[in-house]
Amino acid sequence: LEKLLSSTVKPDEGEIPPFIFQRSDIYQLELERIFKRNWLFIAHETEIPSPGDYVTRRMGEEDVIVSRGEDNEIRVFLNFCRHRGNRISRTDMGNCSHFRCPYHGFTYSNKGDLVGVPYRKQVYGKEFDWSKFSLIQARSDQYHGLIFATWNHEGESLDAFLGDMKWYMDIFFNRTELEVLGQPQRYEVRSNWKLPAENFVSDSYHFLFTHQSLMSVGQVKNVKERKKGYHVSATNAHGCGISAPGEEMIFNRDFMDDYEANLSEGQLGILKEMFNVHGNISPNLSFLISSRKVGDEVVSFTTIKQWQPKGPENAEGWSWLLVEKRASDRVKEMSMQSYLLNHSSSGMAEQDDGVNYEGITRNSRSDVAASVPLKYQIGLGRTPMSDFPGPGTVYEGKWQEENARKYYEWWLGSLLDSGV
Ligand code: FES
Ligand code: FE
Repeated sequence: LEKLLSSTVKPDEGEIPPFIFQRSDIYQLELERIFKRNWLFIAHETEIPSPGDYVTRRMGEEDVIVSRGEDNEIRVFLNFCRHRGNRISRTDMGNCSHFRCPYHGFTYSNKGDLVGVPYRKQVYGKEFDWSKFSLIQARSDQYHGLIFATWNHEGESLDAFLGDMKWYMDIFFNRTELEVLGQPQRYEVRSNWKLPAENFVSDSYHFLFTHQSLMSVGQVKNVKERKKGYHVSATNAHGCGISAPGEEMIFNRDFMDDYEANLSEGQLGILKEMFNVHGNISPNLSFLISSRKVGDEVVSFTTIKQWQPKGPENAEGWSWLLVEKRASDRVKEMSMQSYLLNHSSSGMAEQDDGVNYEGITRNSRSDVAASVPLKYQIGLGRTPMSDFPGPGTVYEGKWQEENARKYYEWWLGSLLDSGV
């Protein structure tokens, strides 16, 4: 398999064979070398604001509990009873001081220690080593409220993993304090998980055609006039496409004091001229900020989306709406409406995109199609900007495929590297 991958996947030439979206042996390798080793997004801090709050999430195919302990510390546990492996939490969210396994009733504190075993003395006798039964804990950390976790206890810090991307994440997630509104939506996407991630990290180009629906109903003005923008390639194939026509600031002017306090001059410049942004943090956390005109007001919305792998041909999309904490209830509600119309599970843009991902995944199943190289060659060899204020490699103009090439280069490197 490794031989086949290194001889047919050629991101530097912009050629990728479709079988990488279909083969189960590749999928297994992804779970082992991408999802088990890297930092993965699991929750936003405002989803579990109080001691005892928890949500259940996934890291690749692993079920985990994200718990805020009585001591206010956030911990991430495998949702796995140390007795015989049952899921100890069956609910999506809640608040509790203890988790009790539904099978034989072993009870764990929300700090992960086993503290109760029914009829312990009768069944185990006097000698019992409680410490051997603590919940399996992942390493976790956060950046501007975004909580990440990894099973790689020795690897690089979250800070190093995000690298250059932090400069851009500051603008998107730390311009002012943000909070999750409502609960995440979840929906099935009949697609390999990489296709939506690749779309978000790289593909501004499809908007012109796939999302004509948005233009035809007047949701978005003709985007051809909006070709000005940047294609940003950062550490570990994180990246984004920023549309920056510099017409009208989409962010709430009431919070200018926060923007000025939290951002550098260069970051503030981008914030003021940007019209929307799409991007991805490797491997599978996508984000999008866009806006909609409601009467005379411009209402922006910030959404983060995760593409959870569920076998080679299926993914579960998770979608959160982030709003400015200081915004009025009316503005939050308008932001929610814009998000629901465009980029929620039933949103127009999301529906448009889903059928494309599904079409490519279906085609990758057939014998003839599976080896015909897909073309990712737009912008190949183009020179990056030298005067952009932010880090990473930045190209002028948004219609590019460089980030997709970088994404598959990172992906291939991860799969072929047997270390750690
Ligand atoms: Fe959890 Fe037995 S499997 S108590
Ligand atoms: Fe799209």
